[in-house]
Amino acid sequence: MTHTTRRLDLGAIAYGGDYNPEQWPEEVWEEDVALMREAGVNLVSLGIFSWARLEPRPGEFDFGPLDRIIELLHANGIRIDLATPTASAPAWFLAANPTVRPVTADGRVLGYGARQTYCPSSPEYAAAAARITSELARRYAGHPAIVLWHIHNEYGCHVSRCYCEQSVLAFREWLTDRYKTVEALNAAWGTAFWGQHYGGFDEVDAPRDAPTEPNPAQQLDFRRFSSDALLRLYRAERDIVRALDPDVPITTNFMAGLSDNLDLWDWAREVDLVATDHYLSAAKTDNQIGLALSADLTRSLAGGEPWLLMEHSTSAVNWQARNIAKRPGEMARNSLAHVARGADGVLFFQWRASRAGAEKYHSAMLPHAGTGTRLWREVTALGADLAALGGLRGSRVRAEVALVWDWESCWGLQLGFKPTVDLDFRERIDAYYERFWRAGITVDFVHPGADLSGYRLVVAPSMYVTRTAWAENLRGYVRDGGTLVASYFTGIVDENDAVHLGGYPGALRDILGVRGEEFLPLREGEQTGLAADSDAGAGIRDGRATRWAEDLALDGASAVLRHADGPAAGRPAVTRHGFGAGAAWYVATAPDPATLDAVLRAACADAGVRQPSGQAEDVERVRRTADDGTVFDVLINHGPAEAVVEAQGRELLRAGGGAGGESGDGAVDGRLSVPAGEVRVLVIDPR
Ligand code: GAL
Repeated sequence: MTHTTRRLDLGAIAYGGDYNPEQWPEEVWEEDVALMREAGVNLVSLGIFSWARLEPRPGEFDFGPLDRIIELLHANGIRIDLATPTASAPAWFLAANPTVRPVTADGRVLGYGARQTYCPSSPEYAAAAARITSELARRYAGHPAIVLWHIHNEYGCHVSRCYCEQSVLAFREWLTDRYKTVEALNAAWGTAFWGQHYGGFDEVDAPRDAPTEPNPAQQLDFRRFSSDALLRLYRAERDIVRALDPDVPITTNFMAGLSDNLDLWDWAREVDLVATDHYLSAAKTDNQIGLALSADLTRSLAGGEPWLLMEHSTSAVNWQARNIAKRPGEMARNSLAHVARGADGVLFFQWRASRAGAEKYHSAMLPHAGTGTRLWREVTALGADLAALGGLRGSRVRAEVALVWDWESCWGLQLGFKPTVDLDFRERIDAYYERFWRAGITVDFVHPGADLSGYRLVVAPSMYVTRTAWAENLRGYVRDGGTLVASYFTGIVDENDAVHLGGYPGALRDILGVRGEEFLPLREGEQTGLAADSDAGAGIRDGRATRWAEDLALDGASAVLRHADGPAAGRPAVTRHGFGAGAAWYVATAPDPATLDAVLRAACADAGVRQPSGQAEDVERVRRTADDGTVFDVLINHGPAEAVVEAQGRELLRAGGGAGGESGDGAVDGRLSVPAGEVRVLVIDPR
């Protein structure tokens, strides 16, 4: 999936962050670089928001300050991830091109003064971005300090969809390319409904705010078009850089698992190295699970290759309602959890906390209070910890279980007018992911069309949009001996949001051996009882269900659990169907966590998935395996008390205690104690 030729290799785990020296007088730069060395920083992302400085007037360039900082970093052995500065265009550009300002679905024109003020389909913006990118790449191509190119910054973070006239023209072009004839578009969009038939592509609009729900297929296509419009901008910049500096890897920072605006399966094919940003949600107290999900998703986007954590925060962010500071040791746990799940680099936003501007209350590696701080001590300790983990570079995380993740289903589930508002892409993904996380079973994420043969178990918690070819892919997987678990409202529609007919879930009915006649969603807060069938199997007991039920009949499958009461009383709620050489489970409701856990454990047993034993509840544990068979076992205790787990190997690192890590060298044979909040990394040598 990713290129194998252009690799980032610093000879160490990458450590550093966004560096914005233009916010500070040059006298500060010497101190910055000295402190970077003290902290063990070996890579900084430079120039992300520097366009206005680099091109102060149209076509006039000033690279003097950038030359100086690049040389200073180079002289100090700090490598550079050089950014094209196109995420924030200069004021003169917007003043000269007011039509570039993005327009929202309700017709508001967004103004200048923040960042990302451009329409993704604007030819003027594309031309200006190409010009500064060419100038930059021409000047710095081949510079020995530049080891990575960072195109733009978080595409689509603020403006992912624009509804201006220029966007409408570009949308029509995209549709013409996709459908060729307007009759094909009419058929795909089901425009016979509500009399929406189009006589030509020039009659089609963006799905702006309308009197009621706009055509769902039109909305889905607009999401696809909008992801593609940004991808086109990325490719244009990448190709300019590639032509001028062909050997240096190129990336852009995704927001995997945090933002749903881009179809990252498409994007991941276009980068040399997958990089992502991750921020905790301050309102949550179990952030370690969402963090792990993002990391697993990023690794999966990278096709299992090592990836880069391009940004996270040392402590609080500044853009949530209540910005909660990280507790002592939390930054190390977060960082090492990303490393455990395949990251070969840990970077932050940003190096030095800003004094002014919108993000001055955002934490940084070097806080406002300077170096005499807990945060600085933890930053330098983390640098030392990562230096001790250099041997993990290039090793892989292996998973026997895959969760299907698809942005088309995410977008499809966001469309209005559904059987219930309780249908949510992430809600079911998160419910299932959490069960695996707590069981200590590492999972990959897969596209529904991907080769599934390497997995013992494939789980589809939210695969609402199911193209016929994807259903065929799953059918082949199960027929050949794979085990599938599908949740409700999966396999329902095709790529145009048109229902697969003949009973639900139309695309998967034969595989699952069931037939649903009608959806019977529950009221808000309503619960039904779940009764275990007599031959349900070990571990599955009576439970409770919320959100969803259906009028479901068995058509080859057997019932594992049935609704005891409620609108689907007596109907199957969880089923299992032997199909070909494999088996397919259908979970036609939202079971309580213990019941879902029991069902998934039964499915894992069915599939022959190894379920770890000797674990402790709060200890996250992931293994990375090197090509020569060396195993790195990372254990992170997120709980308030010391935990003892079964373990073998040599201790490579003790970290996260707040006071800084130490390299362990003791042999571990049988049991390992991990103090509250701490991290241990063990090495198991190949036999
Ligand atoms: C990211 C962005 C950074 C900074 C950071 C703050 O989304 O790429 O530039 O704004 O958030 O958390």
